[in-house]
Amino acid sequence: MKLQINDLQNFKVKQEKISCLTAYDYKTAQILDEAGIDLILVGDSLANVFMGLDSTTKIGMKEMIHHTKAVAKGVSRAILISDLPFASYQIALEEALYNSVKLIQCGADGVKLEGASDFKLEIIKRLKDIGIPCIGHLGYTPQSSLLLGMGRIQGKTEESAEKIFHEAKALEKAGVEAVVLELIPSELAQKITEHLKIPTIGIGAGIYCDGQVLVSDDMLGKSPKVFNFVKKYADLNTIMKDAFINYIKDVKAQ
Ligand code: KIV
Repeated sequence: MKLQINDLQNFKVKQEKISCLTAYDYKTAQILDEAGIDLILVGDSLANVFMGLDSTTKIGMKEMIHHTKAVAKGVSRAILISDLPFASYQIALEEALYNSVKLIQCGADGVKLEGASDFKLEIIKRLKDIGIPCIGHLGYTPQSSLLLGMGRIQGKTEESAEKIFHEAKALEKAGVEAVVLELIPSELAQKITEHLKIPTIGIGAGIYCDGQVLVSDDMLGKSPKVFNFVKKYADLNTIMKDAFINYIKDVKAQ
């Protein structure tokens, strides 16, 4: 049976951890769905792992629409969330709302956006009003990498930890269904998780979050460089390369 966005809250109440991975194509989404994943994210990390770009700031709605449509075809049970890409929501409220509608019409069950400024909180409230579920994203927010630096841990000082804590509470108040916590100290993620009614989903934020998310290509061993918190569950790089080498050998031998 198809999971609904409200089930995220039920997971937290039942103290069952939420499993989440990214997908960018139909077949991966289908395999993830059959494996029983709870939440599939069409992450804008597709810029890095699918397109080989060095930043998520280099893709837009065109790419997210294309990949959300493909992933949606493969999903029957999991909740499907699609990232609002860089500059698709930060500039104008109406643009943010229309772009969210587009992702929903491609088959997403909700959208994810980064940050918690007053403007972002307004977007979240308006999305709720339209009927579009939204997930927040705090800590290291890759769309701000030009300001934050690439892959830097956030919330290490008391002041910045306090800021992230208050942002998490503000996101909850504005109406997000869950919040992704990326690259923050485990104790801060634990404090946020304990104070919020909505679930937290961590990536590089320790074990105390209500769920965990990873970039699929990283945990499958397809990405050349990954953070040290990423556990590799397979070595697809080697498996694929060996298969290609063997195929080439066979063809050459004919
Ligand atoms: O784009 C992405 O893959 C993400 C996850 C890292 C949470 O936002």
